Amino acid sequence: MSHELRTPLNAVIGFSEVLQDRLFGDLNEKQAEYVADIHTSGRHLLTLINDILDLSKIEAGRMGPQVAPFALSDVVQNSVALLRERATRQGIALGFDVDPSIGFIEADERMIKQVLFNLLSNALKFTGQGGHVDVTARGHADGVLVSVHDDGVGIAEADQARIFEEFQQVGTAHLQEGTGLGLAISRRFIELHGGTLRVDSEPGNGSTFTFTLPRTQDSAVVPDPDGALQPAVTRTKRPAAAPLP
Ligand SMILES: Nc1ncnc2c1ncn2[C@@H]1O[C@H](COP(=O)(O)OP(=O)(O)O)[C@@H](O)[C@H]1O
Ligand SMILES: [Mg+2]
Repeated sequence: MSHELRTPLNAVIGFSEVLQDRLFGDLNEKQAEYVADIHTSGRHLLTLINDILDLSKIEAGRMGPQVAPFALSDVVQNSVALLRERATRQGIALGFDVDPSIGFIEADERMIKQVLFNLLSNALKFTGQGGHVDVTARGHADGVLVSVHDDGVGIAEADQARIFEEFQQVGTAHLQEGTGLGLAISRRFIELHGGTLRVDSEPGNGSTFTFTLPRTQDSAVVPDPDGALQPAVTRTKRPAAAPLP
């Protein structure tokens, strides 16, 4: 399925790039404008297809977390590094503060990277020039807490639940690049680990998106569709060996 959708789109994106690069001759003003539109629309459609495929895989239960231990501070630093250039271009100060004692957690690294990338790119998208975006990560006995804070446009109380649903964009967000699926996917990725993702925001006063994760998947619980809590990973504990007589 994904191959059938991506192959023609890659032709649209790739060939419009070649035309934009003027490899086969110059373009007049109108041609340049239309080729730019084809390229932007092609990229948008590719993001949308990738997001919809992710969501349908989660829904079908075919996307369980691939759990392995990794250093959370490395993942935070890498995500920040990926968006550093965009932040500089937009005149936004991007910082991070990771508790050095946070150490290793057991989770699906690719999913956590995708969540951080979604939250950070949202923060940059909805913050103006001269603004600030900061990531903080703290650890406690059995879990970690990661926050992405911005001092951008903020979100009205009435919209704060809706933005986690598919295709929901609020305020002037529809004028910006995006599919309205980022937060829906991010919340599901976090919940697959037995964690939570929530927002704290006020219009004009910025937003803070915070997710929690259990330190290991042994202690994780995920809500089932009825809201009851179920263990994320069922592992039977070996009973302690009886002392020798
Ligand atoms: N940091 C933020 N500041 C203000 N609004 C936000 C922020 N993050 C998300 N939103 C709102 O939530 C909506 C949904 O976000 P998301 O699911 O990531 O979709 P997208 O980024 O593709 O629009 C956004 O369109 C925007 O209205
Ligand atoms: Mg987004």
